[in-house]
Amino acid sequence: MMPLKNHEYEVPEGELVIRTIAMPKDTNFNGDIFGGWLVSEMDLGGAVAARKVAKSRIATVAIDSLKFRRPVQVGDTVCCYAKLERVGTTSMTFKVMAWVSSGGLTEESYCVTEALFTYVAINDQGQKIPVKR
Ligand SMILES: CC(C)(COP(=O)(O)OP(=O)(O)OC[C@H]1O[C@@H](n2cnc3c(N)ncnc32)[C@H](O)[C@@H]1OP(=O)(O)O)[C@@H](O)C(=O)NCCC(=O)NCCS
Repeated sequence: MMPLKNHEYEVPEGELVIRTIAMPKDTNFNGDIFGGWLVSEMDLGGAVAARKVAKSRIATVAIDSLKFRRPVQVGDTVCCYAKLERVGTTSMTFKVMAWVSSGGLTEESYCVTEALFTYVAINDQGQKIPVKR
């Protein structure tokens, strides 16, 4: 699998799949947004994209190359983007990026987190099925 490049992104890659606002309940003991919350939003965003590709139920099987680049603050608008990187027999890998902006208060927007999420297409019994059926 291709490693993620270690550079600052100028624009988001992929389809906008989640847009939400970071809330006080999502903070860690430093007062920054908790990384687990962000990964959860990214997983949901990747799942939105994966279900569209598989047209079935899907399950997250792996998260790779997770990188937290910059902290997220309460009140930030968080946008998740998903880009299909690979389709296997039963699995799909998406590059998912979280970008932050102040929600229109300033023009600034930047990538805070990125990772490769792999999903497996499953049937109603939770068994893997081919993505392309
Ligand atoms: C998803 C699940 C049904 C897959 O069943 P499995 O018997 O483990 O399947 P396999 O080991 O054959 O892997 C299935 C596919 O996933 C890929 N895969 C498995 N582990 C992987 C990993 N760590 N990284 C990347 N891809 C992986 C395999 O390469 C295979 O891809 P392919 O069919 O496109 O070649 C099963 O692992 C499962 O139910 N896991 C729990 C999922 C879950 O609960 N997720 C939410 C976490 S809270």
